[in-house]
Amino acid sequence: MFGQLLLGVAGNDGVRRLVTGSTLSRPVVSRFVAGDDVDAAAGAVRDLAAQGIAATLDRLGEDITAPEQADETVAGYTDLLDRLAGEGLTGGNEISIKLSALGQGLGPDGPRRATERAHLLAERAAAAGVDVTVDMEDHTRVEDTLATVRALRADFPRTGCVLQSMLRRTEGDARDLAHPGSRVRLVKGAYNEPPEVAYPAKADVDKAYVRCLRALLDGGAYPMIATHDLRIVALAEELLRGKPAGSAEFQMLYGIRAGEQQRLAREHTVRVYVPYGTDWYGYFSRRLAERPANLAFFARSLVAG
Ligand code: FDA
Repeated sequence: MFGQLLLGVAGNDGVRRLVTGSTLSRPVVSRFVAGDDVDAAAGAVRDLAAQGIAATLDRLGEDITAPEQADETVAGYTDLLDRLAGEGLTGGNEISIKLSALGQGLGPDGPRRATERAHLLAERAAAAGVDVTVDMEDHTRVEDTLATVRALRADFPRTGCVLQSMLRRTEGDARDLAHPGSRVRLVKGAYNEPPEVAYPAKADVDKAYVRCLRALLDGGAYPMIATHDLRIVALAEELLRGKPAGSAEFQMLYGIRAGEQQRLAREHTVRVYVPYGTDWYGYFSRRLAERPANLAFFARSLVAG
């Protein structure tokens, strides 16, 4: 409830200007965002690699309003891939892309054009030896996003897909995607969704998460268990006992539960989602909405400043 309210307020232009315009926001933002540019992104990948942890890199940006911005997104990721390749940092790492940053929302032709751009990025990533996972945005985009993932997988079968357990439809999607070779990042969902399409109660979202995870494992998919929920992490570890090594991986967000990331990395593949770039507002708002304590911390930092 609090999270939904906060995401609603965050959508207000005045609030956006206030938060992004204040230099006082930066220290708090930097807890969740690796930095402004590819230097910072490469630095974060190196630090994680030293701890035995892989990365998936997100060049921040979403909901673009002009096709030129989609081209900038492609160029930005291409720079990143070049930089990773130049530093020998490609092995085992991945990029995460948002179709709304590739023009999915730009008119009736948007989904097709975004798929073409995603295909181009997948080609460049494959040439560098890097996997791609397509992030999932709000429920209105799920159908188009799944169609794009299917199209990408025809040429790049390792393309990852994200499913959100908060959506009522997701158990069915999980069963559809539960087959060998299918890389699926399972998350709870970070968007403000109406009760017609999403479970309003957190307990139901959590239970659905476990049902989806079981479906993915039973079907022989490769679940990317993306959560900081320690009860689910413990249950997932239990489910993975007895399965061959490499049946799944754990994923967490940059700046959240670093100790648990290191603990898990002693036994499992762990990947951290590393966002970088200057367009951090949408990502940052979702992180605040997930946890009231983050908002209190942010508010205190503004007052103290
Ligand atoms: P839950 O919200 O129950 O949190 C469990 C515990 O984790 C909390 O009690 C707290 O201790 C800690 N925690 C959670 N969030 C925190 C925060 N922001 N700050 C500090 N501590 C926090 N969503 C989406 O809709 N589309 C997507 O493509 C993705 N992609 C994605 C990739 C990866 C790698 C991860 C880990 C997550 C996403 N998400 C996402 C976000 C996801 O949907 C969800 O909003 C967050 O992971 C928070 O949910 P938890 O599963 O951690 O559980």
